[in-house]
Amino acid sequence: MRLNNNTVLITGGTSGIGYALAKELLARNNTVIICGRREERLREIEQRHPEVHTAVCDVSREDDRQELVSWVTDRFSGLNVLVNNAGIQRDVNFNLGMRDLESEPSEIATNVEAPVYLTARLIPHLRKQKDAVIINVSSVLAFAPMARVPVYCATKAFIHNFTLSLRFQLQQTGISVYEVLPPRVRTELNLEGRKKAGYADTGVDVDEYARTVMDGLEADVQEIEYPGAVPAASASREDLDRMFESINDQTFTWHP
Ligand SMILES: NC(=O)c1ccc[n+]([C@@H]2O[C@H](COP(=O)([O-])OP(=O)(O)OC[C@H]3O[C@@H](n4cnc5c(N)ncnc54)[C@H](OP(=O)(O)O)[C@@H]3O)[C@@H](O)[C@H]2O)c1
Repeated sequence: MRLNNNTVLITGGTSGIGYALAKELLARNNTVIICGRREERLREIEQRHPEVHTAVCDVSREDDRQELVSWVTDRFSGLNVLVNNAGIQRDVNFNLGMRDLESEPSEIATNVEAPVYLTARLIPHLRKQKDAVIINVSSVLAFAPMARVPVYCATKAFIHNFTLSLRFQLQQTGISVYEVLPPRVRTELNLEGRKKAGYADTGVDVDEYARTVMDGLEADVQEIEYPGAVPAASASREDLDRMFESINDQTFTWHP
C-alpha cells in the first residue's frame, strides 16, 4: 500500500491503536479523519494536531454510521482508505447467565456490525477511487481465544473470516483488503478487566506497534502480525492449543 497522499477514515481514533495510526499517517502527508464517541478527546486531539479532521460518531448505531458516511463522502471526495479499528472488549462470564451481556452498546454491534455495515456503505464510493484500501483490525485472539473475554474473541474470529471473503469478492475492483492482527498492546481496551486480571501494564508500546503496522502495509502484507510474535494466523492446531492453554492458565479464573 502507498503510505502517503491518501484520505483515510479511521474509526476509533480517540485513543490506542487508532490514534497511533492517525499520527503515523499524518506524519506521512495523508489527510486523516478520525471518529469516536468521546467528543472531549476529539477536541484535545484537534488541539494537538490541527490538521486532523474529526467526527463524533457511535459506529455501533446505524443512524450514526449513515450520517458519518454521507458527511465524509460529501466533504472528502478523495476518501480512499477505510480503517475499521473501533472496538470494545468486555469480561463476560457465562456462568452468570445474562449479567455481563446487558451493557450497551454490545461487543457484537461495535466489533462486528459496525465494520460490516460501514464497509458495505462505503464500497460504492471506494470503487470510484484509484487506490482504495480497506484495513480491518482483528486480533491474535481470533485464533486462540482468551476465555474471560469470549464474545470479544469470537467477534475477532468473525472479522478474520469476513476479511477473507471480502478480499476475494473485491479482487476485481482494485480495492485492496488488509487485516491487522494486534498482539497485546498497551491501550485503553478493557482497562478495568485487564487491571483485575493483573496485566494492564503489559504488552507492546502502542506507538511502536503502529510503526510495525505501517511497515506491514508498505510491504503489502495482507495479514499483518507483530514481528517476532508467534504467528497465530498460520499456526498449526497443536500450536493454537498450546497458545490457548497458556493464555487461559495465566489470566482466567472461573466464578461459578
Ligand atoms: N490493545 C490490544 O491489546 C488489542 C489487541 C488486539 C486487537 N485490538 C483491537 O484494536 C482496536 C483498537 O483498540 P485499542 O486497543 O486501541 O483500544 P482503545 O484504546 O480502547 O481504543 C478503542 C477505540 O475505539 C473507539 N470506539 C469504541 N467503541 C466505539 C463506538 N461505538 N463508536 C465509535 N468509536 C468507538 C474508542 O473511542 P470512543 O471511546 O471515544 O468511542 C477508541 O478510540 C480494537 O478493534 C481492538 O479490538 C487491540
